Amino acid sequence: MELEFLEKARRELINGYVKKRHPFRYFTLATIEDGKPRQRTVVLRKIVDDFVLLVYTDERSQKVADIANNPNVNALFYHPKQLLQIRIDAKAEIITDADQLKRYWQNIPENSRKDYITVDSPGTTISNSDQVHYDLENSYFTAIRIIPKTLEYLQLKRPNHLRIKFEYNADGWKGEFLVP
Ligand SMILES: Cc1cc2nc3c(=O)[nH]c(=O)nc-3n(C[C@H](O)[C@H](O)[C@H](O)COP(=O)(O)O)c2cc1C
Repeated sequence: MELEFLEKARRELINGYVKKRHPFRYFTLATIEDGKPRQRTVVLRKIVDDFVLLVYTDERSQKVADIANNPNVNALFYHPKQLLQIRIDAKAEIITDADQLKRYWQNIPENSRKDYITVDSPGTTISNSDQVHYDLENSYFTAIRIIPKTLEYLQLKRPNHLRIKFEYNADGWKGEFLVP
């Protein structure tokens, strides 16, 4: 019974990167920076394996440093029409396999590659917004794998809201209903 909602979550997450304008295309990723939460919006690129989320980023970004220091992350998705929230508690890994990164890089359209080739690191202070220069020789592209430990499904509806906590262990996913 619970698992049918896990499959619904999986379908919606896949829709996030397959369907145009689906709200799960973007999600909020929280990391821990010096013991404090830090959140940002990122694009869901793909779901690989069993609910592993894939994100592209600049290897010099703060989120990469945060994950290297503390791999615990949290991912939050919200679908406003369905009033559906999915919260994923996970461990993150920075992908270091050069062949794999090359495959992802080759699929990024030319004009989107700019996001990963600025001369100065993301977050560097500049005198005005034109002072962004691109390094055509180097790429700082990397990718993050977000590997879930728990996934919480919350759908607001009448007469009762629906809240289910799924946990991943050696036997796969197991879910239990919670008071919303
Ligand atoms: C709609 C939207 C999508 C974004 N997608 C990404 C993304 O996929 N990867 C990324 O690194 N930053 C993305 N960003 C920028 C991040 O929100 C953030 O500002 C940036 O990565 C720096 O974060 P950090 O300093 O905490 O690492 C996106 C921002 C917006 C507004």
